[in-house]
Amino acid sequence: MRHLLTTDGLSAESATAILDTADELKRTLLGREVRKLPTLRGRTVITMFYENSTRTRVSFEIAGKWMSADVINVSASGSSVGKGESLRDTALTLSAAGADCVIVRHPATGAAHRLAGWLDEAGTAVVNAGDGTHEHPTQALLDAATLRERLGTLDGRRVAIVGDVLHSRVARSNVHLLASLGAEVVLVAPPTLLPVGVRAWPVTVSHELDAELPAVDAVMMLRVQAERMHGGFFPSAREYSIAYGLNEKRAKLLPENAVVLHPGPMLRGMEIGSAVADSPRSAITEQVRNGVHVRMAVLYHLLAGQEHEQHEQDRHSE
Ligand code: CP
Repeated sequence: MRHLLTTDGLSAESATAILDTADELKRTLLGREVRKLPTLRGRTVITMFYENSTRTRVSFEIAGKWMSADVINVSASGSSVGKGESLRDTALTLSAAGADCVIVRHPATGAAHRLAGWLDEAGTAVVNAGDGTHEHPTQALLDAATLRERLGTLDGRRVAIVGDVLHSRVARSNVHLLASLGAEVVLVAPPTLLPVGVRAWPVTVSHELDAELPAVDAVMMLRVQAERMHGGFFPSAREYSIAYGLNEKRAKLLPENAVVLHPGPMLRGMEIGSAVADSPRSAITEQVRNGVHVRMAVLYHLLAGQEHEQHEQDRHSE
């Protein structure tokens, strides 16, 4: 794997390899006072965020540091991006300065793909940390890790993804990955918050949350992305919350062991009630925790995995 840009086309085998590595890293680090592994010593990881982030940026930084990489954070507002430097020139500058991996979040769909095209020859790996409304592959991987932990397997499980699918890169990456790992996905949203062409996705579509909840193994609530809706949205926030908000009463429709996920940041009282978000069936904090191990696994596969595979091959041929 040279870059991680999308889950569309990421094979079940490759995804499972990342999830297994994340599990192994989690087991290895559990209970240790010192969490650092020497695996990426001497490697440089640069995070480049052109959009706000708490979870993704921080967990990539922790992931890199726990693998002993040097991690440098670049944000659009304190860098030469503020002076008008292009994405390409910024990326080439970071690569020339010694970045082994650039992790990018950008408001434009396709930005990470463009970056990978520019940096491929230099051997700098690119990770898409969210490009516009397009994809957020490490979020889908950490969601899959969390569901595997709670449900044992994803194969044959039914997962509802609920809410603002139209603007959600989390939903897109999850649809591809969950389908690849054998899960059945139902998208539940008002017609105005579904993308054109959704009928071609490997999903079923519903507008009735109450009808879907009794038959799912997990429900993933999406944030309503008001910042991407210029001029408001329909239904209104109140109507949306009444029809699609996962409140305490509605959560009682879920089967006993069904899991509740949310990628964060949450709008409590809008798409999810506090009593549900903080309940034992909620895996929201685990998602964040697993995000660190999954991102460690991604960095490992991008920056050390080939060396490890070569070493194993050499060892077996001796
Ligand atoms: N889930 C997610 O991407 O959160 P942040 O925007 O805080 O990184």
